[in-house]
Amino acid sequence: MYQEELKREIRELLRSRNGVLLAHNYMRDEVQEIADITGDSLALSQEAAATTADVIVFCGVHFMAESASILAPEKTVLLPRLDAGCPMADMVTPEGLRDLKARHPGVPVVTYVNSTAAVKAESDICCTSANAVQVVNSLPNDEIIFVPDRNLGRYVARFSPKTFHFWEGFCPTHERMKADTVRELKSAHPDALFVCHPECAPEVVALADHVCSTSGMYDWCRRSPAQRFIIGTEAGILYRLRRESPDKEFILATPALICPNMKLTSLEDILLSLQSMSPVVKVPEELRLRAKLALDRMLAVPRDV
Ligand code: 13P
Ligand code: SF4
Repeated sequence: MYQEELKREIRELLRSRNGVLLAHNYMRDEVQEIADITGDSLALSQEAAATTADVIVFCGVHFMAESASILAPEKTVLLPRLDAGCPMADMVTPEGLRDLKARHPGVPVVTYVNSTAAVKAESDICCTSANAVQVVNSLPNDEIIFVPDRNLGRYVARFSPKTFHFWEGFCPTHERMKADTVRELKSAHPDALFVCHPECAPEVVALADHVCSTSGMYDWCRRSPAQRFIIGTEAGILYRLRRESPDKEFILATPALICPNMKLTSLEDILLSLQSMSPVVKVPEELRLRAKLALDRMLAVPRDV
């Protein structure tokens, strides 16, 4: 009952403030339940760029709210928990990236959206897990600097003849998944298909029947004739997987697949944020314009290059 009251108040405030609630696929179930839009990083940035709302309540992590602020500077972007960060995004700094660029002059930088606005501002083009292969192959160059995720980078390199210079960043949550655990689960459930996120280590990705973004995962599982799936990404995805395919069975590869940052935001935090209209995420204009170039180039890449 208490939760229902919170949800009702949130919805009322969203209405009165002309707000839209965007939630990443890893958010707590109750947050996904009240969101206007849930999706992967690509879908949420497209939504932020297109919305006619005045206020965007971003239920995700800091870099996602920054992207919304970059793409929709006239909107108020609220991040209910300012401490919801992404450790992978913090693994590369603008100074570090400038050093890498100096070692490879003229080589374009492809930056995973899991990065700060300051790093995006030093980049040529962004990518998400849903479009990384298309983004890399849309560039005419034979060499690519890819930051910060070494795992996504190595996955993309399988589909490109280019030479890559990787940054050794990674997602601590996805790296907790071990290939041996997946092998054990596959032999215990020989009928199950294994689907994982490209942030997993290469030896885990090598075992997968399908590799995709978080939204790609529920689309692919829904369309698949299989009945049982071993899931290799953050636990929050189970909510949408079960909603999209209520008759299928989903086994999380390991209970360690929890991103503490994605689990911070509660309904109470969202209500408080809408009442106080804070914390606001606003990227300074000079930085925003440079970072926006990299995001705009990404959004212009056709999905089927
Ligand atoms: P998606 O873009 O696939 O939703 O992934 C975001 C993320 O942070 C994965 O760890
Ligand atoms: Fe960052 Fe990994 Fe959490 Fe995604 S799951 S927000 S990459 S720490």
